[in-house]
Amino acid sequence: MWTYPRVLAHRGGGILAPENTMAALHCAVTHGFRAVEFDVMAVRGDGLVLMHDPVLGRTVVGEGRVADFTLDELVAMDAGGWHSPAFSGEPVAGFADAAAFCLSHGLWMNVEIKPAPGMDAHTGFLVGQACSRLPAASVLLSSFSIEALLAAQDAAPEVPRAWLVDVVPPDWASTLRRLGASALHVNARFLTPDQAVAVKNAGYGLFCYTVNEPDQAHALRAIGVDAICTDRLDLIGAHFFDGVPQA
Ligand code: G3P
Ligand code: MG
Repeated sequence: MWTYPRVLAHRGGGILAPENTMAALHCAVTHGFRAVEFDVMAVRGDGLVLMHDPVLGRTVVGEGRVADFTLDELVAMDAGGWHSPAFSGEPVAGFADAAAFCLSHGLWMNVEIKPAPGMDAHTGFLVGQACSRLPAASVLLSSFSIEALLAAQDAAPEVPRAWLVDVVPPDWASTLRRLGASALHVNARFLTPDQAVAVKNAGYGLFCYTVNEPDQAHALRAIGVDAICTDRLDLIGAHFFDGVPQA
């Protein structure tokens, strides 16, 4: 069941800061958030960075595959200028720095394992290892990649895991069992009330991404969703669900 915060800042600070950066994590703290979701990718030399896309260009100045660069090379790159001039020069964040910041600021972490293509098991193992060194109950791993989650389980069986899906598939229960997962993370657009009831009745945590409209957040809560992540920290605050009954 869900023992974690109920509202998470997506990619660190949602739309208010460049995604997956230290500035985004600062933004979450500034807005009173107690929990964040961010994406973690393994790169050349086995470093781990906060990164969504497998290629440079959209959020980081440059071109080529992220995984072809080392951690040191990446942290010298601009991951903030795309967002707005105020964040120009904001570096790519390393996972160790991000985790240390979260721990020191009371931010619980949903670490999404985001493997570069073909690096699923390798990334899952490295992220699992890194998270096994963090305090218990400070992190929940998640991934769309079953291979990555199985590798994370090998590296750190004690770190809880969630399976991320777009649409709830027919074999969701058997897959959660196979992964030893404690929660299902579902695209909010596609979750049906019947699916929500079934997942909750089976004893799993149920999380939805990415919820940016307050009405949708209330509707999801009413069908039994435990927690959400949002890009709109300004509209759906950390305490949005406080006192709101769950189904
Ligand atoms: O973990 C929830 C959500 O972040 C999954 O989608 O593409 O934003 O990483 P994406
Ligand atoms: Mg993510």
